[in-house]
Amino acid sequence: MKITEHPGSALGATIEGFDHTTAAEADVRRLKQTVYTKKIAVLKGQDLTPRQFLDLGSRLGRPETYYEPMYHHPELPEIFVSSNVPENGKRIGVPKTGTFWHADYQFMPDPFGITLIHPQVVPRRDRGTYFIDMGRAHAKLPEDLRERIAGTYCRHSVRKYFKIRPQDVYRPLSEVAEEVERKTPAVRQPTTFTHPFTGETVLYISEGFTVGMEDADGRPLDDDLLHRLLEATGQLDDTFEHDGIHLQGFEQGDLLVWDNRSLVHRARHTATPEPTVSYRVTVHDDHKLHDGIRVP
Ligand SMILES: [Fe+2]
Repeated sequence: MKITEHPGSALGATIEGFDHTTAAEADVRRLKQTVYTKKIAVLKGQDLTPRQFLDLGSRLGRPETYYEPMYHHPELPEIFVSSNVPENGKRIGVPKTGTFWHADYQFMPDPFGITLIHPQVVPRRDRGTYFIDMGRAHAKLPEDLRERIAGTYCRHSVRKYFKIRPQDVYRPLSEVAEEVERKTPAVRQPTTFTHPFTGETVLYISEGFTVGMEDADGRPLDDDLLHRLLEATGQLDDTFEHDGIHLQGFEQGDLLVWDNRSLVHRARHTATPEPTVSYRVTVHDDHKLHDGIRVP
């Protein structure tokens, strides 16, 4: 296994020769350490079947199955399918997922630490995923903002981006909204937490899922504070030219592994969609997202 880290503080590392069927535990640990410190690892030459992909993911942690079944791979529910390509006339997975800034499962009580994406059908134009390192973004915040958010909390909810399912057709929107609030009530997390593997302070907010801030006693804080934070980190920049935004490309045979604690990401939006299919596996590693999470 050969790890080539992108120089200096640049995000990313390329990993060649990783074979999940023969890799020693020490190699798996090195891979995970690279993910935590360089944030994105691109494993080259991985042309895996869905089963092999899931097996590779399982070497990094315990897979989490997405809570909404319409995203599941037909044979392996642990695989989340993003696809706009029907198979044998049937829709598989869900098209146009994640075209907004978010961390995966941020709206759930127990988010996982690692996300793996294995692109299956790669678009020729406009490929890639945008990322922002929210550890680095926190370090770059103006002093007054860092002070204002100390000891505060955020609420995260899927409500803005919950996707209507086939079975929701003809249901009143209010009933669907009520179901979303009942099954996935907004969760409260500290605005910043300490990354359990790197020790850095992560600003845990996203434009897609963070719906409000509050002080330690639960009193709501002005929306302007959240707006300023999102703006400072680059999440409101529709030109994607903000310093903190990294565009990660990929090609056929790549498998991306990233740190879901400190990165927010966003699928690249394409005006004229090409066929795109990717598989996702998400895993819990040896720690909760942060040490303040106490759910089982
Ligand atoms: Fe995502």
